[in-house]
Amino acid sequence: MSALLEVRDLHLRFGGVKAVDGLSFDVHEGEILAVIGPNGAGKTSAFNCISGFYRPTSGTIDFEGRSIMRVLPSTITRRGMARTFQNLRLFKEMTVLDNVKTAMHANLREGFFDTLLHTPRYRRAEEACAREAQGWLDFVGFEGDEQLYVTQLPYGEQRRVEIARALATSPKLLLLDEPAAGLNYGEKQGLMRLIRKIRDLGVGIVLIEHDMGLVMDLAERIVVLNYGKEIADGTPAQIKADPVVIEAYLGAEDDEALDDTTLTGMVATVDDEVPPSGDAGGRSA
Ligand SMILES: Nc1ncnc2c1ncn2[C@@H]1O[C@H](COP(=O)(O)OP(=O)(O)O)[C@@H](O)[C@H]1O
Ligand SMILES: [Mg+2]
Repeated sequence: MSALLEVRDLHLRFGGVKAVDGLSFDVHEGEILAVIGPNGAGKTSAFNCISGFYRPTSGTIDFEGRSIMRVLPSTITRRGMARTFQNLRLFKEMTVLDNVKTAMHANLREGFFDTLLHTPRYRRAEEACAREAQGWLDFVGFEGDEQLYVTQLPYGEQRRVEIARALATSPKLLLLDEPAAGLNYGEKQGLMRLIRKIRDLGVGIVLIEHDMGLVMDLAERIVVLNYGKEIADGTPAQIKADPVVIEAYLGAEDDEALDDTTLTGMVATVDDEVPPSGDAGGRSA
């Protein structure tokens, strides 16, 4: 099966900073690929290149076998790639429903005069648009009032609306930039169910995420970036066992585990109990 997205030897430089320094990967239909790496590793920059917001310094990006290297973001969206942003990008002065409808307008077909004169054809198109937008809100599990302004929603619901907006463009490939950031445990579980549901539609998904539990559970393959460089590419099991990854990235989590152990030790002392031995690394990923 040929790849939906093919990224080869991608480089992006900002002056002296090599934000992306040789990234290659494929994504297929119905596949979940995670891109992980410490802050500043170049994950968002890579997304910005793929979705047409930044022009890479070198490399190639093919979507469904065609180069999208010099294609505008709006055209890339029409061809079937959608993305969400690390910092939400919703229209604050619009209702939830209008936010989703606006995303669909890129694909609406009525002509200029239909729009201007509000012809029956225009009204029918508008009604169909509202129904479809509502359908996407239902699909992502939005349970609030779709006539509220997005700023009136809790953060987790805003994130759902952003995913509904992306889906409303009928993507074949969806790029999610840290979709779980700021979500609580229950919301993260809901997000995982939603991402699987989107994958089951046959959509390819590229997921940037810091929550290792979520990544290891969801992703079929993982690409690891560090200082712009791709240091590993493999299944969750391979990535977990990769010494280079542990050193560069998961090593930082071991320090946190160490802090927790210290804390446990302190509590145990107060309770005058001996902490169970061999529990030190008990939280390893
Ligand atoms: N628009 C920009 N101008 C200059 N430097 C940038 C820009 N965007 C990102 N960078 C730099 O590129 C590197 C990678 O950043 P980013 O892609 O945001 O990392 P990540 O998403 O992995 O945290 C960082 O050193 C960052 O400061
Ligand atoms: Mg980022």
